[in-house]
Amino acid sequence: MQVDPFLLLDHLGPVTWGPGEGIGAPDHPHRGFETVTYLLSGGFQHKDSAGHAGQLGPGDVQWMTAGAGVVHSELPSDEFMRDGGVMHGFQIWVNLPARDKMMKPRYQEIPAARIPQATSTDGKVKVRVIAGQSLGKSAVIETRTPIMFLHFTIQPGGGVFQMVPADHTAIAYVIDGTLRAGFTARPVKEGQMAHFGAGTAVRLTAHASSAANFLLLTGVPLNEPIARHGPFVMNTREEIEQAFSDFQAGKMGKIAADTD
Ligand code: CO
Repeated sequence: MQVDPFLLLDHLGPVTWGPGEGIGAPDHPHRGFETVTYLLSGGFQHKDSAGHAGQLGPGDVQWMTAGAGVVHSELPSDEFMRDGGVMHGFQIWVNLPARDKMMKPRYQEIPAARIPQATSTDGKVKVRVIAGQSLGKSAVIETRTPIMFLHFTIQPGGGVFQMVPADHTAIAYVIDGTLRAGFTARPVKEGQMAHFGAGTAVRLTAHASSAANFLLLTGVPLNEPIARHGPFVMNTREEIEQAFSDFQAGKMGKIAADTD
């Protein structure tokens, strides 16, 4: 999936791991974009070369702006490794415009309890407002470029008009159930994505007999050339080569060893 400004939507799981089986991504670099991790179930711990460390549990969001470069690790939490369980979540890569690709790295970590939630007046639509606005609630996360990231659950027969700024592209990704997308109520099933056309609102409904659980992502396209290789997303090949040599020269730092 690559729908400007989104580079990737990775649906992690759901997968059940036994004790000691969980997997993650040990030390690796990023430059030139943002990684957004949203967990529904399980537990991750992360560390990075700028000295940040944290834990991610169900409903928590980590919005990492890699900018000029970080080295980080994303691994199952100690508790998850001990007990096993269901790991389920998303990682979304959001591109940065050329002017921000070399910005200082930034982390925003929002626990589930701080993510605004709203419910429609008929009680059939619930939304978690990770970025942007919905049903009168505004997100607490600051995005570098205008982005909306909304997690909707709609009960059978429910529906909502979601305002989307006219200059945004909009996609919906269905986690489970069936979403009826747009004015034609096109069915979008589990694991499928809808890409909406231009407009200032999207119509999101659930079928009369089944619920819909999905993510809505919108953003302003950057309309810039993309040079992408592995963990780096820049505008030109030369910038990618520079990223590899900066990483190899240790300019993105490394994760400090545990001192305890
Ligand atoms: Co990473």
